[in-house]
Amino acid sequence: MNTTGTYGRTVTGPERTQRRHPTTPAIRLARRWRQALLVVHILSSAAWIGIDVIVAVLISTGWFADDIDLRSLAYRALANFVVWPMLASGLLCLVTGLVLGLGTKWGLLRYWWVTVKLVLNVALCTLIVTVLQPGMPDVETYGEELLTGTAADDGIWRLFFPPAVSLTCLALATVLAIFKPWGQTRGPKVPTKPRTRP
Ligand code: HEM
Repeated sequence: MNTTGTYGRTVTGPERTQRRHPTTPAIRLARRWRQALLVVHILSSAAWIGIDVIVAVLISTGWFADDIDLRSLAYRALANFVVWPMLASGLLCLVTGLVLGLGTKWGLLRYWWVTVKLVLNVALCTLIVTVLQPGMPDVETYGEELLTGTAADDGIWRLFFPPAVSLTCLALATVLAIFKPWGQTRGPKVPTKPRTRP
């Protein structure tokens, strides 16, 4: 049987068998695998949000606490323990999201809600590596200098930005994942119900 191609061309033979429906997933994902990946995806994004909350608590403690030992400890804990778990959860969220996108009808660039989440995830991971991690030795030094009374308070308040930006983006990504707004980016649209006249 023949089928109709672009501009009404008749498509036969190998060309017809190679074509696939635009919403067919790029990789085949068994139902159990999809469910397992979704569990890991949701857990990793939740872990990422949790680590961001810990970062916000440590920075607030370092800034607002009265006890100088506690302030120093907060900055040194931030410098030593936070960035790598944050990056690991961000990358795990990214990888599982990529496989879920490729393995389901959602695709990666087919729906706005997936595409925007992809951009947010890549941007946040890039910022962790290029901005947050390189600044950590200075944060550690600042924490140590607090104990000796030699700490110069130049720009440490800027540490409030990373958790604020990250938590805002991750909250947006969660809302996008749940509500799936804005429809498709391009290509054939999912057919809608025909309008009925009153
Ligand atoms: C930025 C951080 C991200 C967060 C907080 C996040 C959060 C979530 C949540 C909570 C769900 C479950 C929604 C539901 O089942 O109704 C979900 C599903 C999904 N996410 Fe993400 N996600 C993120 C990044 C990504 C990325 C980067 C991609 C792809 C490139 C992606 C692709 C998907 C897909 C395709 C689903 C639906 C899977 C399915 O129904 O089988 N996500 N995400």
